[in-house]
Amino acid sequence: MDIHKLQEIVHKTRDARRQQTIPKYSPADRDQLIKKFHPDFRGAAYRPLTFGPNAGEMTVRELAALLEGDSPLPADFDLTPHYTTDVLVVGGGGAGCAAVLHAHAAGAKVILATKLRLGDSNTVMAQGGMQIAVTQEDSPVTHFLDTLKGGHMKNDHQLLKTMVEEGPSIAKWLLGLGVLFDRDADGNLHVKKGGGSSKPRLLTASDYTGLEIMRVLKDEVLNQKIQLLEFCAAVELLSNENGTCTGAVLRDLDNQRYVVVAAKTVILATGGIGRLHIQGFPTSNHYGATGDGLAMAYRMGAKLMHVDTFQYHPSGAVYPEQLIGALVTEGIRSEGGHLVNAKGERFVNELDTRDVVSSSIIRECKEGRGIRTMSGRVGVWLDTPLLDAEQGPGTVKKHFPAMVMQFERFGIDISKDPVLIYPTLHYQNGGVKIDTNGESEAKNLFVAGEASGGLHGRNRLMGNSLLDIMVFGKRSGSTAAARAATLSQGALTLGHLDRFRAEAKKSGVSSDVICPMILPAYARKE
Ligand code: FUM
Repeated sequence: MDIHKLQEIVHKTRDARRQQTIPKYSPADRDQLIKKFHPDFRGAAYRPLTFGPNAGEMTVRELAALLEGDSPLPADFDLTPHYTTDVLVVGGGGAGCAAVLHAHAAGAKVILATKLRLGDSNTVMAQGGMQIAVTQEDSPVTHFLDTLKGGHMKNDHQLLKTMVEEGPSIAKWLLGLGVLFDRDADGNLHVKKGGGSSKPRLLTASDYTGLEIMRVLKDEVLNQKIQLLEFCAAVELLSNENGTCTGAVLRDLDNQRYVVVAAKTVILATGGIGRLHIQGFPTSNHYGATGDGLAMAYRMGAKLMHVDTFQYHPSGAVYPEQLIGALVTEGIRSEGGHLVNAKGERFVNELDTRDVVSSSIIRECKEGRGIRTMSGRVGVWLDTPLLDAEQGPGTVKKHFPAMVMQFERFGIDISKDPVLIYPTLHYQNGGVKIDTNGESEAKNLFVAGEASGGLHGRNRLMGNSLLDIMVFGKRSGSTAAARAATLSQGALTLGHLDRFRAEAKKSGVSSDVICPMILPAYARKE
């Protein structure tokens, strides 16, 4: 059926929905809902890791194959260094830029290596905001408790305490660098409420918060004349005779050659794994989100946390086909947008935690209350025109200019037409285990941002990722610089890789997967 015909139910039921009482879930109902419908609980999608630091733990098959894959480097690879530095930062998103700026400010010689261009990352795609307790009514303690509840109490308490307590100083740092967060009529920082949060605490720059933060960080990296290696993807770490990290090998994608960097400390800020398309899900992630850091750290012997849990953001676009999986910000639900099934009914509190909302959407679709497009995709409606209807014409355009533009390119006006959505692979809740300074279990190897794990427990709250990357980017950068000042450059070997390969052989694993994959398989070859 034509999409406009399908949309009619949303317009027709708007008044009735205003009176509707939405279902309330008890804690037991929520648990049951998640176990029945959340993709984290599809047993067949999982298998145990055969060897390595997390041997025996369950993870999705796509990630297991990546972690147990082989390095592209032969054992006798020439490790003569092309560059020598104190701190090598791998990854040019928010975490990488924060890390390199703080390491540089601490006096270290630094290199920032990025797989694509500086700034190409999930950070620029972050729309909804950054959670920081900045108001009188709020506090880091409340932020801590909301996040713990959202994470099913599985968050690392020390990491979480560190993040919420350092939030206000991060806001100051970013404002000082020139980030233009939204302000109210009195000039105070404007805060919005995100799903699962008891207080409004999202600092926003319209619906392009990450892009605004990245604009400023990129400028600062260039202003500080940080040495950049763009289009250089890390493919392997280096270690000395004790297994301590001493650098990395990069693949120069422009010149198709390897580049060896000797570094006293290394910070991985390589982001997530959306482009593995776990369980066939589309993703909201950028092109380079292929889990490179996880695989390299695992080979170095660093333990991972919560490798069995992923975030499927409730609202990924389903229509038009060109936008499949693209993020439709939670901010629209925060402003009052209803989720509507094919019967014209609301079926969940739109501001419940993401795992609950996504599970409810999947349930509606599985039980026949989803809306099917002509190409056979299924989803539910997000009533975006409701915002103009309730708050006055122009509301959608004023608050969500990036979203409006994204759909306008395909002739869709989201202030008039509701948006069809379905959960999209958005975030890896777990990652490399770190301490509060970002150091992994492999000495002198630091990890910041989405590649690290433990902070968010089993479900991240909206807006906590932008704060995570700033806090742990900063702490890993400062600590790696201070550590480097106490060290002389260690030997460059692939001893850890020899051990990894020997373990694979002993475990009977012979993989034809070469990782990092660098770009998804469907990438254009040039
Ligand atoms: O919906 C969003 O705007 C996403 C935000 C986040 O993942 O933090």
